[in-house]
Amino acid sequence: MIGSNLQRELRNVITRLEPTGAAIITDRNVRPWALKVAKAIKRVGLKTPIHVIPASERSKSMAQLEEVLSFLERRQIDRGGCVIAVGGGTVGDLAGLAAAVWQRGVRLVAVPTTLLAMVDSSIGGKTGVNGRSSKNAIGAFWQPSAVISDLAAIETLPAPTYRDAFAEVVKYAVAMDRGLFDLLQRNAPRLADRDRSMLERVVFRCVAAKALIVAKDERDRGPRAILNYGHTAGHALEAATGFRVTHGRAVAFGMRVAARIALAMDLCSKRVVDAQDALLEEFGLPDRPPHADPKRVLAAMALDKKARRGKVAWVLPRRIGHSEIGHAVPGAIVRRVITRSLA
Ligand SMILES: NC(=O)c1ccc[n+]([C@@H]2O[C@H](COP(=O)([O-])OP(=O)(O)OC[C@H]3O[C@@H](n4cnc5c(N)ncnc54)[C@H](O)[C@@H]3O)[C@@H](O)[C@H]2O)c1
Ligand SMILES: [Zn+2]
Repeated sequence: MIGSNLQRELRNVITRLEPTGAAIITDRNVRPWALKVAKAIKRVGLKTPIHVIPASERSKSMAQLEEVLSFLERRQIDRGGCVIAVGGGTVGDLAGLAAAVWQRGVRLVAVPTTLLAMVDSSIGGKTGVNGRSSKNAIGAFWQPSAVISDLAAIETLPAPTYRDAFAEVVKYAVAMDRGLFDLLQRNAPRLADRDRSMLERVVFRCVAAKALIVAKDERDRGPRAILNYGHTAGHALEAATGFRVTHGRAVAFGMRVAARIALAMDLCSKRVVDAQDALLEEFGLPDRPPHADPKRVLAAMALDKKARRGKVAWVLPRRIGHSEIGHAVPGAIVRRVITRSLA
């Protein structure tokens, strides 16, 4: 469900699920939203205790998972109960995994409060926490019973967090949805102003694009890889800079790299590279990432390749709105494009 001030819709969803009990997981910064959600649900006679985690990616840990599980235990959430995740991707991934394993699985309602969570992490059923040294290493596929994206939450998002999410939005547009690309091009200023009716259309198109692909390949064994557009070089940049570059900026960099590789391999025209550059620029995702050593980025990519037993399958654009998965790219082209993109 996508809209503004969805308290009534939330109540209807909960009424339909008829849970024997419910518990809210949230983080410090989103607590006011969690209280609103609890208040709305109270009107249908359900008391929902709130568990607050620290607002940090570090909360995606086994230690915090254990805290959430003991909270569910203390609150006697049984197999008929439900977990309500109110927050960004951090809360969603952690609470989602807790829902997947508590009592071997209880229902999950997602109330995403960041743009990234609305367009990306709340959809598709990937849940998880980080390992000691590897991101999202421990997880499960667990689909939510409902996702309620209330655009009113976007208003309080810090500007860099809001801006970063547009990297994923542009990803859907270039990889899968030409109409979305045109919509973004025409309405960048309205989106910069967080215009709700425009956001509603954008979130809807992103969710539709992601849901369509996930429905074909829930377990990520094939076509779902298209969602990794921009993430091959993007992840390498994150790793090479010790995660000082934010995910959104890294993905923006990764999409620029992927488009340039596609151009070098004659898979797309220069127009694709230029149009994507211009759109990223409009959303404040410029091509200069904070300083990174190309050698380190290439080394991170080589490590990743080793982990995948020699296979790096690039997602490369053929034209705006249509990309292809599974491309093998000659090492010399990767080296040249990465080195130039960081110059
Ligand atoms: N499961 C998936 O498919 C998937 C996909 C993409 C990303 N992710 C994960 O999502 C996480 C990133 O998610 P994120 O970008 O939403 O970050 P986040 O959840 O860490 O939120 C970013 C910051 O914004 C705050 N915040 C959240 N909502 C707010 C609001 N309405 N007003 C003010 N502040 C608010 C949070 O407290 C936090 O400090 C990463 O851990 C990533 O691995 C998962
Ligand atoms: Zn991403």
